[in-house]
This record gives sequence, structure tokens and C-alpha cells, in this order.
Amino acid sequence: MKDRIEQNRKAIRPSWSDLYDLKTYKKMNKPKPEKFLHIDNGLTIDLLKEFKDIKQKSLSECIASRRSLRAFKDQSLTFEELSYLLWETSRVDHIENDIVYKTIPTAGATNSGETFVFINDVEKIESGVYLYIQDKHQLSLVNDDDNINEIVNKALLRQLRGAQVVFYFTHVLPRVEYKYAYFGPKLATLEAGHACQNLSLTAEVIDAGACAIAAYNQEETDHLLKINGADHFTIYCATVGKKK
Ligand SMILES: Cc1cc2nc3c(=O)[nH]c(=O)nc-3n(C[C@H](O)[C@H](O)[C@H](O)COP(=O)(O)O)c2cc1C
Repeated sequence: MKDRIEQNRKAIRPSWSDLYDLKTYKKMNKPKPEKFLHIDNGLTIDLLKEFKDIKQKSLSECIASRRSLRAFKDQSLTFEELSYLLWETSRVDHIENDIVYKTIPTAGATNSGETFVFINDVEKIESGVYLYIQDKHQLSLVNDDDNINEIVNKALLRQLRGAQVVFYFTHVLPRVEYKYAYFGPKLATLEAGHACQNLSLTAEVIDAGACAIAAYNQEETDHLLKINGADHFTIYCATVGKKK
């Protein structure tokens, strides 16, 4: 137990100066990992990029009202609200000189993160798990098993609590390890935190709330998202729903 604790502490305090001497894949000129995950199972949904019915709030208001929400009003999220959450949380803002810039900071612009959502109750979208195609602002269906709601809730260790949407922040480790080798897991974890914080504050704008979830079943969640759980796995989840 003590060994395990110490070993894990060590994993999040690598010495940055070691990186200068390290022969990273980047320094070895190995092929670069793919920038984005693209899945096309036939059902792709274009999300909105303009948000006419969303009444903005000040950042201070959003920070002041943010609390983890664990009980939700029984009201669907609108298509516009879902589009807005994804737009502010996970979109690619622009690509310049082959470098990806998102709404959140990413370690050395390596952008190892992907976002999946479970749609439980959103107007105009069938329930299921979707990949957010971050460079196109689209959703692509990944999993619509018959009893998907139960599978999701079980993988969340019964913390779905009737939320309208679940966000899954996953990371493709080779993207960050390419440049930062064994520093990658620490950097990816920090990045997931940035995404979840954007989500928490954006949820406040639409009179909703989020609850960050780290206590989930790792294997069941990766399986649900159809990712391999080895070099691409879930790091953080968040339920989102309307305030009562
Ligand atoms: C890394 C992390 C993991 C968390 N995991 C869970 C979780 O699995 N389930 C849950 O209900 N809340 C979870 N939370 C929410 C915290 O319990 C919550 O932020 C804390 O109680 C403070 O409340 P507040 O968010 O309302 O300020 C998590 C928060 C963080 C930062």
C-alpha cells in the first residue's frame, strides 16, 4: 500500500530537467500520432455554432454559482444548449502551422484529449453515446445498445442520477507522450481538469450544473465508449443536468 502511494506520487512529480536529455519520439523523428479521432458509423450530427437563445452571464456570476449538482430538474436540454456546452468545453478553436489550439490549454499544444457524451435527454437527439468530433463540431454515434441507460449508470457506479448528459474526457496518450514521454499521464490528467472546469462554468450559463466524477468503473466505461483502455482511456467524467 505505502509503496503504491509513493510510486503514484512519483508519477506526478517527474523532474522537468530530465526531459531535456530524454530521447523522445519527437526527437527521434518518429511518425506523429493522429491529431483527432474520427469515427463514422453512418450517423453524424452537425451541432449549432450560434447560440441565439442562450442568455449570457458574467464569468464572476458563473464562478459564484458553481456547485456540484447531484439532483436535476426533469427537463430536456435543448439542442442549442448541448451544442453550446460542447462548443465552449471541447472544440478546436483553430489550427495554425499544423498546431491545434482549443478552448482549453493543452500541454505543449499536444491535444491528447477527446470528448464523448452520453445523451440521455436532449431534444432532437436519440439517446446513445457519441464521439464529439472536435475539429468539425459534430457528434458521431458510437453506442446505442438497447439498455444503454443502465450500462451508463452501472459504469458510473450509480451516479447518473437522472442527468440529461454525461461528458467523458478521454485521452489518447501517445499524442502527449510523443513530445513528453513519461510525463504524459500527468499532463493528460491536468488537461482533463481544464476541460471539466470549462464544462462546469458553461453549465452555469444555461441554468444547469455539472458534477465531476472520478469514481467510475474504468473497464466498463472504456468498453462503453468503444476505446481500447490501453493507450486511449477515460480520465474524467461529468454529469450535467438542469437545476431544479
Ligand atoms: C477530481 C474530482 C473527482 C470527483 N469525483 C466525484 C465523484 O466521483 N462523485 C461525486 O459525486 N463528486 C465528485 N467530485 C465532486 C466533489 O465531491 C465536489 O467538488 C466537492 O464535494 C466540493 O463541492 P463543490 O463542487 O460543490 O464545490 C469530484 C471532484 C473532483 C475535483
